[in-house]
Amino acid sequence: MADLEISGKFEVFDSPLELDPEDQKLLILAEKARNTAYAIYSEFLVGAAVLLDNGKIVCGNNQENAAYPSGMCAERVAIWAAISQNPDALIKKIFVSAKSVRHKVSEPVSPCGSCRQTIAEYEFRQKSPIAVYFTGETGKIIKAKALIDLLPFAFNNTLL
Ligand code: THU
Repeated sequence: MADLEISGKFEVFDSPLELDPEDQKLLILAEKARNTAYAIYSEFLVGAAVLLDNGKIVCGNNQENAAYPSGMCAERVAIWAAISQNPDALIKKIFVSAKSVRHKVSEPVSPCGSCRQTIAEYEFRQKSPIAVYFTGETGKIIKAKALIDLLPFAFNNTLL
């Protein structure tokens, strides 16, 4: 038996003011998308803004459904919209922002497992990192320089 240790390094920003202007803009767009989420069941609103290498920014938010599993997370709404409309583009960054109607979300809200797996698919395909930034309504912003840092041992098509 051998130990295998995997460690991650993330950047932590105390406030949006520490982000560079491009990233501040992406955060504002993620927040704007978040505020129009259709989240009447959980009352937990999430927005995502995706930056592509062609300069386009595509946003999305969570879309819930009375049949709960038929709803979809903001990250996947945004990333699938971005790539379906720009099939040859590379994804450079995704920003995620969340808030709740019920309480103040002041901790960073990281993408769920299914969203990580979905983003990983495109990171493997494009062979270049997708930076993931995530935050709550207030508080710190965490940056992972690549999706794989959030999903070590990610399943991928080289294993098929
Ligand atoms: N949600 C997202 O949009 N992204 C995530 O990464 C986690 C959860 C949504 C799904 C659901 O509409 C609500 O947040 C509560 O789980």
